[in-house]
Amino acid sequence: MIELCFSILASDFAHLADEVAAAERGGGTIVHVDVMDGHFVPNITFGPPMVKAIRPITKLPLDCHLMIEDPDAFIPAFAEAGADMISVHQEVCRHLHRTLEHIIEHNVLPGVVINPATPVETLIEILPMVHYVLVMSVNPGFGGQKFIPFCVDKIAHLAELREEMGLNFRIEVDGGVAHDTVASVVQAGAEMLVAGSAVFEKGRTEHNAAELLRLARAAAHID
Ligand code: DX5
Ligand code: ZN
Repeated sequence: MIELCFSILASDFAHLADEVAAAERGGGTIVHVDVMDGHFVPNITFGPPMVKAIRPITKLPLDCHLMIEDPDAFIPAFAEAGADMISVHQEVCRHLHRTLEHIIEHNVLPGVVINPATPVETLIEILPMVHYVLVMSVNPGFGGQKFIPFCVDKIAHLAELREEMGLNFRIEVDGGVAHDTVASVVQAGAEMLVAGSAVFEKGRTEHNAAELLRLARAAAHID
């Protein structure tokens, strides 16, 4: 099932509830929350209080993408704030298996994320544990960056591995997903599509979300 995970990073924070409602009317079904710490990535965004603030304004699941150095220290706080899904970067988790177990223990769906330069093979042992794998198609840190084309092959590779290993984790893609790139990621096997700048635009959010989903679903039917 193709789903639009709209990234509130690109939204107007002063009108967050309206922004979320517009993306939801356009067909978005997951709220993507980009958490940045100024260490793992060169930018700072928001933490558990933001998740807590969003929790009562929508029934949609909250997907927290942790771009932070020490995710273990913050998993309880994000779970408590209302996160439904938490993804952690392979690159920062010295004990990735333990971190994923930590997420599961908090009754949150676990995800793992890989940067463009991180090979899919680094995940093989933990794939049976995750609910989703997030393939970054930009270097994390900022919205509005240019899509990196070789990441499409990583999505296809991951989809092949999933088949070979008989698993059913979902494949998410994040970064530069827009009208001109969405077909390629969907055809490679991505089902959870993160988009920020392609969705949020004053007065156009609902339309943008609907159009992006329309293009994605059309691509899903072409082999
Ligand atoms: C990048 C974030 C993304 C970002 C996507 O570090 O993880 O979720 O908000 O923004 P766009 O869709 O504008 O590339
Ligand atoms: Zn993200």
